[in-house]
Amino acid sequence: MVGRFTTGRKKTAFGKGCGFLKGESGSSAQNYVVATALCAVAVVRTTGAWLQLRLHAASCARNISEPMSKTFFITTAIDYTNSPPHIGHAYEKVLADVIARYRRLKGDKVFFLTGVDQHGQKVQQSAAKAGVPPAEFVKEITQKFVGLWKKLDVQYDEWAETTSDRHKKVVQGILQRLFDAGQIYKDKQAGYYSIRQEQFLTDKERGPDGEFGPEWGQIEFREEENYYFKLSQHKEWLLSYLDNRRDAVIPDFRQIELRNAVQKLFGDLCISRPKSRLDWGIELPFDKDFVNYVWFDALTNYISFAGYDPNASAVATGLRPVETDASSKSLGTAHRAVATSEFDAQPQEFRDRWSKDTLQIIGKDILIPAHGIYWLIMLHAIGFPDDQMPQLLVHGWWNLGGAKMSKSAGNIIDPFVLIDKYGSDALRYYLISEIATGSDADFREGFLVAGYNHALANTMGNLANRTLNMIHRFRHGTIKSIDLTALAESEVRSHLQAWSDGELKAGQTFYRDKFADFRPSNALSAPLARALACNALVEISAPWNLAKDKQQEKLLDAVLYHLAESLRIIAIWISPVLPKAAHGIFDQLNWKMELSGKDERFKLDDAQWGDLPDGHVVGKPVPLFPRIEIA
Ligand code: MSP
Repeated sequence: MVGRFTTGRKKTAFGKGCGFLKGESGSSAQNYVVATALCAVAVVRTTGAWLQLRLHAASCARNISEPMSKTFFITTAIDYTNSPPHIGHAYEKVLADVIARYRRLKGDKVFFLTGVDQHGQKVQQSAAKAGVPPAEFVKEITQKFVGLWKKLDVQYDEWAETTSDRHKKVVQGILQRLFDAGQIYKDKQAGYYSIRQEQFLTDKERGPDGEFGPEWGQIEFREEENYYFKLSQHKEWLLSYLDNRRDAVIPDFRQIELRNAVQKLFGDLCISRPKSRLDWGIELPFDKDFVNYVWFDALTNYISFAGYDPNASAVATGLRPVETDASSKSLGTAHRAVATSEFDAQPQEFRDRWSKDTLQIIGKDILIPAHGIYWLIMLHAIGFPDDQMPQLLVHGWWNLGGAKMSKSAGNIIDPFVLIDKYGSDALRYYLISEIATGSDADFREGFLVAGYNHALANTMGNLANRTLNMIHRFRHGTIKSIDLTALAESEVRSHLQAWSDGELKAGQTFYRDKFADFRPSNALSAPLARALACNALVEISAPWNLAKDKQQEKLLDAVLYHLAESLRIIAIWISPVLPKAAHGIFDQLNWKMELSGKDERFKLDDAQWGDLPDGHVVGKPVPLFPRIEIA
């Protein structure tokens, strides 16, 4: 009876992560270097900036083809409601939001699901400590998460709360099916039990001295009946699935870690707690003295809030159907009889959303065993075919002074405070630009301020401000589209020509490749490099001198048009990360005003040269990114 996974939720930490593209980093510092180098190239040679970027892109891109699915379904982990959110939670949701916004920008239909994990021991204990019933406690904390996502412009399509009836029905339906199929059984376990960690301990948990360490707190010998899921029965399947799909987990070093862990897998998974010990959970449908504990509850959110019906394919997969709700009957026997798999028999709504390209974003602590083992095996056990297994994107941690930020360690950074101080775009920019997807980062407020001042205030904000000012000063707010071939040969002309001739296209490819690789921090190099190059163009061309010379009228118009058009493209490119600023730029350009404030205003396909018409009148400049003065 030893060797079971009795841990419920055990967090597994790994060493510091590194980027999944060797030799590449997503830090703003490095982006800055790339962009600054490009700027220097622009100043010295005025051409070739995008050639540099292209080479950079070609040497780094993994050549992943972008998923082609009906709806792009993206999820995040659901956060525990035992304490308010910190910036680790904020990072994950912003990362998912940025990827979701990018896919909408590309024209894809997107379904973005996030939410909160409201059951379990930790929540029950925190509620007891606060002296309020758990239901009341989670309601209050849930509101904090909802409030944060609103403030941070995290725009999800569906919100998961695990205490909802909709979710409970699906969890119970799945448990019942697995119980009926003999995949869940009751057994007695006897052994040493950690009261603090709420789990049975095995010999693996003993230290070199043969004793259980102080981290387990008080230990007692306990005998307890519980329900178990036949996890290890699916070990060979999981190994073969991982061997057949190389991008099941991203970055790929995490897939290797997962495979190694699966190889060591033994024993079954304890999925219950007697109500006498814990009652803040979903009751087992086949035994009212127990609640589910706890991954079957949490993980199921990914399908329960996407329209999954646990009874839809019961006949097809050879399991006894369970009539738990009216909607399950609507599929009818005929439909069930022709179903070839769990997936084929699911409601249209679910099938439209779920695919092998479903992207599940999680932190590295919940890959093994929760998502990489329990979740994939659960899906397999309920009949999901291999070609409908989701893809797991595993991110690193935000640390503080080298240690993982967490409430229990008492080292959290409050995102509300940062937003109030610097604004939501500033925090979004920092969270995305400072960390390469998959790696860890150390939170430093000074870096947030420095990155903001350099990239946003001094580079993009300054470009927007000076461009609009000059258009008003020299041309009463009107831009003119000039045929470049009519201009005399000059350094400035060749800069303008190179951009519209091919460098923009290379920039587009770079940008798309980085997003296809889930590397928004690198994708941001495209708008940043463009803004740096434009600022360099202002210095080289000195529009204030051109304005004094009648002979240079056309060149001045060409430069001003170039700057305004570049700003329009920069706004499109930054819109997934900096939605407020992107709208600000479009507003000031007086562009697509009928869609002001709406996401549809931005389209990736519009990021091509020449959309602003000849004679367009731009708006007045308003500071987009006021410099943060360091006291
Ligand atoms: N409730 C579970 C997840 C269930 S998913 C079906 C849980 N909750 S959590 O609140 O502890 O963490 C939620 C997410 O936030 C996880 O993906 C976790 O990795 C992430 N983060 C929590 N702290 C973090 C940092 N310090 N840095 C980055 N992300 C981290 O686990």
